[in-house]
Amino acid sequence: MSGTPPSHSPRPPDTGAIILAAGKGTRMYSDIPKVLQRILEEPMLRYVYDAVGPLCGNRLWTVVGHKAEMLRAAFPGREKDFIFQERQIGTGHALQRAWPAVLAAGIERILVINGDSPLISEAVLRNFLSASAEAKADIAFVTLTLTDPGAYGRLVRRGGRVAAIVEAKEYDPARYGPQPREINAGIYCFAVGATTRLLPMLSESGVSGEVYITDLIGLGVEQQLTVYGHMCGDDADLLGVNTPEELTRSEERLRARLVRKHLRNGVLIRAPQSVRIGPDTRIEPGAEITGPCELYGKCFIGRGARIASHCRLASVTMEAGAVMHSFCHAQDAHIGRNCIVGPYARLRPGAVMEENSHAGNFVEMKKTRLGKGAKVNHLSYLGDADVGAGSNVGAGTITCNYDGKNKHLTRIGERAFIGSNTALVAPVTVGADSLVGAGSVITKDVPDNHLGVARARQKVLARVRKNE
Ligand code: UD1
Ligand code: MG
Repeated sequence: MSGTPPSHSPRPPDTGAIILAAGKGTRMYSDIPKVLQRILEEPMLRYVYDAVGPLCGNRLWTVVGHKAEMLRAAFPGREKDFIFQERQIGTGHALQRAWPAVLAAGIERILVINGDSPLISEAVLRNFLSASAEAKADIAFVTLTLTDPGAYGRLVRRGGRVAAIVEAKEYDPARYGPQPREINAGIYCFAVGATTRLLPMLSESGVSGEVYITDLIGLGVEQQLTVYGHMCGDDADLLGVNTPEELTRSEERLRARLVRKHLRNGVLIRAPQSVRIGPDTRIEPGAEITGPCELYGKCFIGRGARIASHCRLASVTMEAGAVMHSFCHAQDAHIGRNCIVGPYARLRPGAVMEENSHAGNFVEMKKTRLGKGAKVNHLSYLGDADVGAGSNVGAGTITCNYDGKNKHLTRIGERAFIGSNTALVAPVTVGADSLVGAGSVITKDVPDNHLGVARARQKVLARVRKNE
């Protein structure tokens, strides 16, 4: 995720990691814990796991607290390594809560990272760990130098040497000198032995009442430990996300990077600045996408497939040569080779379009298989249905799949023809090679090779006028 080239130094065997993720994220003004706020439809914390996971194997703990149940639900496999911080009274307190697990694991050093750094990359962390080891640091942390240091913790240096980190709201120029532009990125590496002695010395801030992890830096300097500030320039990938503005800044950086990756890989992306593609989507070279457009989750787009503007796809597979016209919405659906979808189609979970089938304008499908070459081209709802190959479903056809309590299946055989404006009251089957007359309400099965008609017979009566 970063421009820094990967370092190939092997992972030091003694490193574990802690992600701090218990905070509320007050500045997001949201009911969702901040680390679950989405970046390209993935929770922020997931990106941190992606970067940190390969560095520390299973020695990875997450400090959770605010709405911990939501984090458990979002990351069910990780729950066993969650450490609960019942009151979120600061990052230093969060570290104290995690410390018994670190001691029990018998590791020598620990990487600690704020859970609100979604753009951090494994390569940057690897370089940081190597540099910390080289510096023989008891405490190391990453610094950035920003034109606008905003609300980030200020790094105070004396004679070029690290002296302390002071939180922005507590920075007193009379005491520390003019505001520095060097800030704390919230990524630390602690030697376990030395830090075990420092942790009980942390105290609450007189200003906020919180216990700060950043006070360990000043304490370390006082105790004459080796404290090392690892400078990473102005790399915006390392910035923490605390506000909606910061979230969209990070999301935009990641979006642009992912779109660029696909373009370079041979995907034709028109209006690329308006295309949003999540990190798990695979697109084959030769596919074509026109923005504005969104592709999230585990999408797959095959060679020669085309997606027109104003479409949103989530976990959709679209095989080679398939075409999606504008204004479609598709989720957990499969679109086979050379299919045509839309404009204005909605494919809900379980919609499966086999090769060469068509779903046209204002067609909605849910848990429905549209067999090879079958067509449903206008104004239809197909739910819990199985449509055989080569069938034609006329305009306005509706499967009445829900009786108020349960859902029922509709089966349409191969090469059947369903006339326009038909209501198929499920459970019901229309056999292969059968016909249904337009405007029918079909409540009984129509066997293979039959015609089903269920509508009032038309009467034609002579018109009677007054005064005649
Ligand atoms: C923190 C740093 C600041 C740094 C910035 C970088 C402190 C005191 N300040 O500030 O120096 O410049 O990150 O982005 O650490 N959390 C807990 N438990 C708590 C409080 C917070 O687990 O009791 C977690 C949060 O979920 C979050 C992380 O710790 O993921 C950082 O907390 P946050 O409130 O975002 O700290 P900042 O104000 O950004
Ligand atoms: Mg933060």
